[in-house]
Amino acid sequence: MEIVVLSDPNAVADFAAARVCELLDGKPAAVLGLATGNTPLRLYAKLVELHRAAKISFREVRTFNLDEYLGVAPDDPQSYRSYMQRELFAKVDIDVSNTYLPVCGEHDDPRDASADYEGRIRDAGGIDLQVLGIGRNGHIGFNEPTSSLASRTRVKTLTADTVAANSRLFGEGERQPDMAMTMGIATILDSRYAMLLATGTEKARAVGAAIEGAVSAMCPASALQLHPNASFILDEAAAAELAGIEHYRSVHAENSRLTTKFGFF
Ligand code: F6R
Repeated sequence: MEIVVLSDPNAVADFAAARVCELLDGKPAAVLGLATGNTPLRLYAKLVELHRAAKISFREVRTFNLDEYLGVAPDDPQSYRSYMQRELFAKVDIDVSNTYLPVCGEHDDPRDASADYEGRIRDAGGIDLQVLGIGRNGHIGFNEPTSSLASRTRVKTLTADTVAANSRLFGEGERQPDMAMTMGIATILDSRYAMLLATGTEKARAVGAAIEGAVSAMCPASALQLHPNASFILDEAAAAELAGIEHYRSVHAENSRLTTKFGFF
């Protein structure tokens, strides 16, 4: 695992955007796994900026999002499809028909919708770079604590904590869904590179458990310990509970010398 501790959320976004850029430089038709929520907003803003400066193109890129609310229509402003349109897709040169979210319509059998999504990821050749956030309870995607580490795309019920954390995004009288379809943990572990971004003190406990705790279904992000190529890109606040922080800083300084010379991918 690569553990990168940076000064603040902007530095986290810059670092993550540089990784996306390097990947697309070498592989313009890369497959990206994307997340929604607060944390990647700065990353998407940075990617839009790089696109406007003609430094990055998404023309050949395909994307697969981690999750989508169940029973929320794609054109609903609260859907993750709308979020992606607003924050990234409508602002870059991506072909929207190459962008996928795990959608399960009202009349669809969730098992068929799940198998279809897994099949699409496989047909695309797998995910080259998966962006992840982390819940306060350690979830990745909507794989809540007790999710099987061998899980595949499926419907999950959100915990009360996750519903509360996301309630800030819903106005008074707006129905907040408590179910979602999410990529599974095994699906995430199949990605060739996984990059978990975390900022702010409210993530410090989950980050500590994911990196330095035991691999456990009670902290789904700890499954990244089983990933052969995963990075945790953290700001100081999110890294505050890491016992080994000084070691991670010196390893990162050494690694940076190598990646500057030879590249990361
Ligand atoms: C969103 C997702 C979630 C979030 C997590 C953190 O697609 O998969 O796991 O990454 O809930 O959310 P924020 O970034 O809003 O704190």
